Amino acid sequence: MKSIRLGDEAPNFIAKSTEGEINFHDWLGDSWGVLFSHPADYTPVCTTELGTVAKYKPEFDKRNVKVLALSVDSLESHIGWIKDINETQGTTVNFPIIADEDRKVAELYDMIHPNADDKMTVRSVFVIGPDKKVKLMITYPASTGRDFNEILWVLASLQLTAYHKVATPANWHQGEDCVIVPSIPEDQLAENFPMGYTEIKSYLRITPQPNV
Ligand code: BEZ
Repeated sequence: MKSIRLGDEAPNFIAKSTEGEINFHDWLGDSWGVLFSHPADYTPVCTTELGTVAKYKPEFDKRNVKVLALSVDSLESHIGWIKDINETQGTTVNFPIIADEDRKVAELYDMIHPNADDKMTVRSVFVIGPDKKVKLMITYPASTGRDFNEILWVLASLQLTAYHKVATPANWHQGEDCVIVPSIPEDQLAENFPMGYTEIKSYLRITPQPNV
């Protein structure tokens, strides 16, 4: 199995899901994508995670991001469990869940970490850009449910820095100052940053967030 690294093309696959067969690249279209695995159906933390993603779906839609869940359980299991998620989390699951019983996708994306658990997927998150390249990978253990505010926060940074020549500093939040990427030479700062900039050091230049 070839490991996936940032900047690689996200491996394509065709898989069964609760919303029909998915060809991953075709399904993504021109959108950003979040592919995330959870350890197993009918487990408590996963139930809260999938309910939370359903509630946050409008936030993902606003950002042109499609969400796709995965576990190595069957389609029948997913369909039964969705009823429980809807009932207990007060929501309606509104995104597809891949039924990866043969572990094809889990193995392609290295979502099973045998020293953690040799059967269940860990909590992997892959963010894919509209160019189908992998922009971010995060891995959580089964015991830690994800904070999907963190996923929305990192999407804000990924989308900002994809389209503007800035990076986001430590603890950055939407609307706060950004760092100018080091590759912009000093004589091009005024042209590239009409909102202004502050040069604290030659390598540390700050500008207001360009897209607010
Ligand atoms: C859960 O989703 O609750 C869970 C799954 C596997 C191990 C521990 C917790």
